[in-house]
Amino acid sequence: MSALKGNIISVIGSGLIGRSWAMVFLSGGFRVKIYDCQPGQAASAIQEISKQLKEVEQAQMLRGDLSVEDQLVLLSSHDNLSQALEGAFFIQECVFEDLETKQSVFREVEGHVGESVVLSSSTSCLLPSNIFSRVQNRKRCIVSHPVNPPYYVRLVELVPHPETVAEVLDGTHALMTQLGQAPVRLRKEIDGFALNRVQYAIIAESWRLVTEGVISVQDIDLVMSEGLGMRYAFIGPMETIHLNAPEGLEDYLRRYREGMKRVLSSFGPVPEFSGEEAKSINQEICGLIPSDQHHLSTRRQWRDHLLMGLAKMKK
Ligand SMILES: NC(=O)c1ccc[n+]([C@@H]2O[C@H](COP(=O)([O-])OP(=O)(O)OC[C@H]3O[C@@H](n4cnc5c(N)ncnc54)[C@H](O)[C@@H]3O)[C@@H](O)[C@H]2O)c1
Ligand SMILES: *[C@@H]1O[C@H](CO)[C@@H](O)[C@H](O)[C@H]1NC(C)=O
Repeated sequence: MSALKGNIISVIGSGLIGRSWAMVFLSGGFRVKIYDCQPGQAASAIQEISKQLKEVEQAQMLRGDLSVEDQLVLLSSHDNLSQALEGAFFIQECVFEDLETKQSVFREVEGHVGESVVLSSSTSCLLPSNIFSRVQNRKRCIVSHPVNPPYYVRLVELVPHPETVAEVLDGTHALMTQLGQAPVRLRKEIDGFALNRVQYAIIAESWRLVTEGVISVQDIDLVMSEGLGMRYAFIGPMETIHLNAPEGLEDYLRRYREGMKRVLSSFGPVPEFSGEEAKSINQEICGLIPSDQHHLSTRRQWRDHLLMGLAKMKK
């Protein structure tokens, strides 16, 4: 690791994502201090993390070189922010997705840490220039956006504030790489970052195809899971087109450029995702997977089990 040095990482907010980040940091042998504003919440997060580490060990998916016991020794919980931040070189914020909350958390955090400490946010869709607007020294601020669950899905989008210096972006990239995550750099901030922009493009066109009566809900999901998704688990759209013509990307463009443009220009407007359309799509998906807790959580467990297998295979 070049720019960032130290062995303590503070996790602020001990919900779903805070706990997952803690597990990733522990796997790298870092000391992790976890804090939550709800008294007792961070302590119960330790119980949950301990349970989950034992589960991943059982599934032979434990990350890092340390045993579960050795990892748990590195973990502490705090109800006092200043104690939670003491000695840390890197702060990963994981509080509610609410601009006001994040702004005030970072302002408070800054008051407790030195100039060189990196302030990193887990936000899914708030912009760095908004989140960090109340921080004085913004050159050490960055968004590290994980994908749920980060223990198996390794992508982390690194999004700089306009004032973020290269050392912080590079250092965070090196830290994430050392931890076994798969970091990507955005060169500048943009609404939705990269992952959600691509994801929303897919959701929008799938939605339009269903509401225009072209295809069923079940079948559009199969287009992804049995079609595009098969290769997207290991190559992206650019490599896909590079490999899909005998002489590579330029050849692909010669053959398919006009077709792509024709199809793309026939796409409809942004859907409302509400009203009768939403009702009918909801009815169709609930016919396949009823939206009661039993069915949803069974299906989520099935998904996470397969994700774990896929993560194993990719390793
Ligand atoms: N859940 C996901 O799939 C996902 C994926 C990527 C990123 N994220 C982002 O991660 C962040 C956390 O999401 P989550 O799903 O873990 O939420 P969550 O509701 O499970 O957890 C939030 C935790 O933050 C605590 N908290 C709230 N205000 C606080 C404060 N001022 N100081 C300290 N702690 C505070 C809460 O008590 C709670 O324990 C959000 O910004 C979210 O957008 C979530
Ligand atoms: C938190 O800990 C610091 C340092 O140990 C102490 O000065 C402060 O009073 C504590 N804050 C609260 C709210 O207990």
